[in-house]
Amino acid sequence: MEKILIVGPGSQILGVKIAEELGIETVDTESKSFPDGENYLRLNIEDETIIQGKEVIIVQSTGPSSNADQNKRLFELAMMIDSVKRIGSKKIIVVVPYLAYARQDKIFRPGECPFATTIIRMINSFNIDEFYTVDLHEPKILVDFSCKAINVDSMKLLADYIKKLGAKDIVVVSPDKGAVERSKAFAKYFGDDVLVEYFEKVRDVKTGDIAMSGKLSLKNKDVVIADDIISTGGTMATAIKLSKESGANRVYAVATHALMLQQAKYRILKAGADEIIGTDSIDNQLAKVSLAKTIADYLKFD
Ligand code: R5P
Repeated sequence: MEKILIVGPGSQILGVKIAEELGIETVDTESKSFPDGENYLRLNIEDETIIQGKEVIIVQSTGPSSNADQNKRLFELAMMIDSVKRIGSKKIIVVVPYLAYARQDKIFRPGECPFATTIIRMINSFNIDEFYTVDLHEPKILVDFSCKAINVDSMKLLADYIKKLGAKDIVVVSPDKGAVERSKAFAKYFGDDVLVEYFEKVRDVKTGDIAMSGKLSLKNKDVVIADDIISTGGTMATAIKLSKESGANRVYAVATHALMLQQAKYRILKAGADEIIGTDSIDNQLAKVSLAKTIADYLKFD
């Protein structure tokens, strides 16, 4: 089946790279905001037969950036899918490398809904064929999709990058107990005997403030702290500070989705990180590891 890839405004670099890996044509979009805040988006085509009858891959990350927030990115995604639906394609595959709202995978306080499910319901309403995302905060939410849904793993790519930096005597540190399983899976890429340690993190569900504590045996160890998301950098900076207080040598701050909001970079470097490493699920200068080939490999054999 002939394929074409729509590069969403939220994934301009990664979208093009995936298309290059697949050796297929791309279509971009024309998007803007009206003075009242409403959004406009059209597929940048003059001839709709470019889309008709093809397998259409839409790539759109929904992370916040200086010119768009998550809500705008999500609505752009909805407009792209709906445009393709109206035009008519053989198959629609949606790739959302960073899925906004995925952290609210359950109800924390009375009166809430799990926002992750709300977003998935929106995507389900379009009756797409396949959905791909990367390193979901809680992979269990995949069951809420009504189509085939895949959580792509970026851990090997991130571990390969760190190995090239020459890290030695590695200990993987999880910034909280809940992320230990993910850290264990990550540690395997450095060797079977690599230790995984964790700090205790408690987040106040009303204010969002975190408290972290613990003392580990990290003397002369190179520490890799892996999280799915760096948002304000509070979690990572605190874990780095505690690692340094525990004797760590070099410390690498690794996140699949390095959103880097507010003073995140400053906080993390000031806490003592040697390097901050993210993937191109978010288009920024910390996107040192590309997901393009890994995602394209899934789409190739489709
Ligand atoms: C939460 O559980 C996530 O895994 C991250 O630890 C969190 O989103 C990081 O947020 P921040 O950078 O604002 O501390």
